[in-house]
Amino acid sequence: MSFTFSDALAPMNGSATRNIFKLLGRPEIISFAGGMPARDCLPVKEIAQCCAEIFADPAEAIRCLQYGATEGVPELREEIIKLAGDVGITGLGHENVQILSGGSQGLDLLLKAFVNPGDIVLVEDPTFLGFLSTVRSYSARALGVRTGDGGFDLEDLEAKIKKYRPKLIYAITTFSNPTGRTHSAANRKAQAELASKYKLILIEDDPYGRLRYEGTPVPALKSFDQTGQVVYVSSFSKTISPGIRAGFALGHEDIIRKLNIGKQGTDLHSSNLTMMAVARYLQKGYFYPHIEKSIPVYRGRKNAMMEALGRYMPGEFRFTNPEGGLFIWGEADAKIDTQELFSEAMARNAAYIQGSVFFANGMGANTLRLNFSNESPERIDAGIRVLGDLFKETIAARY
Ligand SMILES: Cc1ncc(COP(=O)(O)O)c(C=O)c1O
Repeated sequence: MSFTFSDALAPMNGSATRNIFKLLGRPEIISFAGGMPARDCLPVKEIAQCCAEIFADPAEAIRCLQYGATEGVPELREEIIKLAGDVGITGLGHENVQILSGGSQGLDLLLKAFVNPGDIVLVEDPTFLGFLSTVRSYSARALGVRTGDGGFDLEDLEAKIKKYRPKLIYAITTFSNPTGRTHSAANRKAQAELASKYKLILIEDDPYGRLRYEGTPVPALKSFDQTGQVVYVSSFSKTISPGIRAGFALGHEDIIRKLNIGKQGTDLHSSNLTMMAVARYLQKGYFYPHIEKSIPVYRGRKNAMMEALGRYMPGEFRFTNPEGGLFIWGEADAKIDTQELFSEAMARNAAYIQGSVFFANGMGANTLRLNFSNESPERIDAGIRVLGDLFKETIAARY
């Protein structure tokens, strides 16, 4: 059969990561490819209790099973306003909060609200693959800005703003996917000022910021926003559960109203069961202790991966050493093509994501992303040893 799909979606074949996920079900594969929370860090008992309480109360049960408001249940918006204070975002009212079916929906709705076909969107190089795909689905174009340890190269950012007149800027400010890097406070402030000066929308995407294992927290970029140009998007996917699909956007009320209109056409409103269960989870005080319990698990896995990288990887590789989040980024000063080597890595039962998929222009053949959250320290050691051997053999054969 041949179908005539839209110009925007016809050339898209699904993201590399989601395609790889299908191959990863085999237990013998040690996977550093995903971005899933650890099994042990999913709060099964607490979420079950919150759901049971909702259905034990007849009025709550009906409210849960009926249609609801697009902006989301008020008790969850209330809790989110309190959480926002932790990252320095204050002065919010309910009109500044939109509940989302995962942070991805916020990215989609913001693009739906602001970009037209052919518009330019500035992103970090490298950036979140899901965002690049969504930009393409709106026939807009993502353009990479040089990014290092402390955030954007501000000269490159301003030069590209002037040259390309982008509609918006997208920044993953804390423990980025894919690099694990964090933007400094000064870099965030400068970005907020540039967004204000050039009247650009800046999306601050922050699903990982609460998973800090070491170092000092940095205030949200949104906290430096004086003019309402910054929209903060976050998610409970990495702190509670990705399967329940709960996220939120915080921003100027005019922007939130537009997201609300966009959401009406997408899913009308997020699942009441999810929103009400998450609100209860927060009200009952389960959130912070659960994160406190998860952090040592992730810290242990990150340290296991850093140690294994030091032990087994060839000297040509450099890796980030993130203070939190779920990813480590590797870059080789050698002609290593991580896409080409992927099938051999899989044949040896180890998986990663080739770094090139995270670049707006497909560069980065010598880079890779490693996720450490969903494998035990023992399997991390074994898997990195496999990859180290593969890369060493490849370098030895070529030089
Ligand atoms: C940077 C970034 N933003 C957004 C998301 C979307 O997460 P969700 O839709 O599950 O909230 C992810 C998920 O991996 C991510 O890494």
